Amino acid sequence: MSSLSGSRTSGTKVLLGISAGIAAYKSALLARLLKQAGCEVRVVMTEGAQAFITPLTLQALTGEPVRTSLLDPEAEAGMGHIELARWADTILIAPATADLMARLAAGMADDLLTTLCLASQSRKVMAPAMNQAMWAHPATQRNAARLAEDGWRLLGPASGDQACGDVGPGRMLEPEEILAALLEPPKAPEAAGLAVTITAGPTREPLDPVRYLSNHSSGKMGYALAEAAAALGARVTLISGPVSLPCPAGVERLEVETAVEMHEAAQRLAPESDLFIGCAAVADYRAESAAEHKIKKVEGEEELVLRLVKNPDIIAAVAALPAEHRPLVVGFAAETRDLATYARDKLARKGLDMIVANDVSREGLGFGSDHNAALLLWRSGDGGVDQESLDPQPKREMAGAVIRRALACLARPPSR
Ligand code: PMT
Repeated sequence: MSSLSGSRTSGTKVLLGISAGIAAYKSALLARLLKQAGCEVRVVMTEGAQAFITPLTLQALTGEPVRTSLLDPEAEAGMGHIELARWADTILIAPATADLMARLAAGMADDLLTTLCLASQSRKVMAPAMNQAMWAHPATQRNAARLAEDGWRLLGPASGDQACGDVGPGRMLEPEEILAALLEPPKAPEAAGLAVTITAGPTREPLDPVRYLSNHSSGKMGYALAEAAAALGARVTLISGPVSLPCPAGVERLEVETAVEMHEAAQRLAPESDLFIGCAAVADYRAESAAEHKIKKVEGEEELVLRLVKNPDIIAAVAALPAEHRPLVVGFAAETRDLATYARDKLARKGLDMIVANDVSREGLGFGSDHNAALLLWRSGDGGVDQESLDPQPKREMAGAVIRRALACLARPPSR
């Protein structure tokens, strides 16, 4: 054990949370290893965990009373739960069951452990442990992704034989592995230091002071991308058309109305960016000139002819910047048929590095919805085009996948 003990953990205040999984028996060894590594350890057990291992065992190993209930006046008189939440440098939950993950992902505070997690601003780490089918279930995967977005670090699970007889991913990491992961110095977020500019929402092209041409873009996809890039440490600027969404935390927003305004903002920001994503649904045409006063109905005339002129192609202009000022350029393609063919054509015609093709004719996906599905196409290093299909999923999840793929392209610049 001496190889794991060291000054880096000395004095670290670890709140060890134990939930109701068979792997709870390993938490006794984990508590012991943490103590040997120089940590101060206090244990909180859920009600179900006590069916697998007794609080007395953990008390004997840590030398501290074990907390099991939120509504325990005697324990609260010693150290109140808010005080305990503030005391911890690290909350480590091992094992973390599917049920506990679901409650934490939903922000619930229905027992002492979940309440402490909500009340604490400490580093948060969990080692999931459950049956392999429970781990693979989309609900658990959704919860795991949400917890990671909320700042939890998930260690494991490992794959192998399970206590229930199944084989697969779901086993809690061994206590030694959990301790070793705690000792690792924190990694810089994947997009730290990168400047990312994203266009989102519709544009509005005025016809007169009260009317405009626009489309159904809600901005949800673009805002989810901004949120995902910021969560990975990027400096994000959102060039947003008119939408009714709040600006994501840590993101700078530039509000515009028309395609020409969006184009000007993009031209200003793109040369300073590492990554430019055009998610906005830009109107291809605008009125040649917007009427100064409200257009009136004319008695006897059954037609009104509007003359439209082409808007600048914002993303193509960014892609055409000289190499020294050109970011990696990711476009979107909103299609209703022949997704791959049209997307390949846009990738080439607009000079993009990557394109996210979404089928906007599919019920419940695309414009306005909280969900989307897409085909990602990107230029590979050898001059070809690689692709990946993203099944229907919440836009927040899809945004993470798109950003990660773009970061991979940035790490290995494609041939342009
Ligand atoms: O906003 P939501 O409700 O969440 O919906 C999301 C979305 C469906 C709008 C989004 O996923 C999407 O597909 N955005 C692109 C819509 C679009 O305008 O696609 P397009 O195929 O017409 O344009 C291709 C690309 O060129 C896009 O990156 C677009 O931003 C860009 N473009 C288009 C015209 C123009 N004048 N300038 C541009 O930069």
